[in-house]
Amino acid sequence: ELSPIDKAKFVAAKRATDFVEDGMRVGLGTGSTAAWLVRCLGELVRDDGLRIIGVPTSSRTADLAREVGIKVVSLDEAKWLDVTIDGADEYDANLNLIKGGGGALLQEKIVATASDQMVVIADISKQVETLGAFPLPVEVVPFGWQTTKALVEETLVRLNGDTPYVTDEGNYIVDLHLKRIGNPRQLSLVLNQIPGVVENGLFIDICDAVVIGYGDGKVEVRD
Ligand code: A5P
Repeated sequence: ELSPIDKAKFVAAKRATDFVEDGMRVGLGTGSTAAWLVRCLGELVRDDGLRIIGVPTSSRTADLAREVGIKVVSLDEAKWLDVTIDGADEYDANLNLIKGGGGALLQEKIVATASDQMVVIADISKQVETLGAFPLPVEVVPFGWQTTKALVEETLVRLNGDTPYVTDEGNYIVDLHLKRIGNPRQLSLVLNQIPGVVENGLFIDICDAVVIGYGDGKVEVRD
C-alpha cells in the first residue's frame, strides 16, 4: 500500500504516460516523482511493446531507465525530443516552476528546452501562489564559488557534510532562501548574468502542462 504522497506522485506519473506515443523521443526527469514515471514507462515498454527512446536528465535517472528496459541515448544523439516529463519543487498558476531540488537543474533545463512539450508531474503540495518558499537552487562553477556566492544576497550553501553538493557536471549548488519571488523572469535573468553562475532552478515559459496527483488517487491536468 502506497502512502498518500507516493500515491499522488504515482497517479500523476501514470496519467502522464498518456502524453507518450509509440516512436517518441522522451526526456526523462529526475526526482522521486519522475522515478515513478520511468518505472511506468518501463512497464509499457516491457508489457505493451511501447517503443521509445529516453534521454535522461541525470546519471540517477539514466541508471533507473536502463534498469527498467528503456533505451537510453544522449541528447545529442536524439537531437530533439517530442516530450519531456519531469517533477518540480513548485509550480504556479502561470506554470512557471522552481526545479533542481534534486540538483539536476542544468540537464533538466537543457532537456526540457529541447522538447516540443514539457509536462510536469507533481502532487498537489507543489502548487503555490508565489514561487520562492522552496529554496531556489543555483548551480555555480567550483572556481571562485565562494566569491560567486557572495555576489548573490541571502545565500545558503547546500552542504553535503562539509563540502558543497556536487552536480553531475562537477559544479556546486547554492541555495537561495528568498521566501517570495515577485518577478521570477527578472530574477532568472539577473542570476544568470553573474559570472560563475551556470544556471538557476527557475523554469519560465518552459512547462506546457502540469499533471497534478492527489493522495486519494484523483488526477487533474492543467495547461
Ligand atoms: C530534480 O533536480 C528536481 O528538479 C526534481 O524534479 C524536483 O526536485 C522534484 O522532485 P520530487 O519529485 O522528488 O519531489
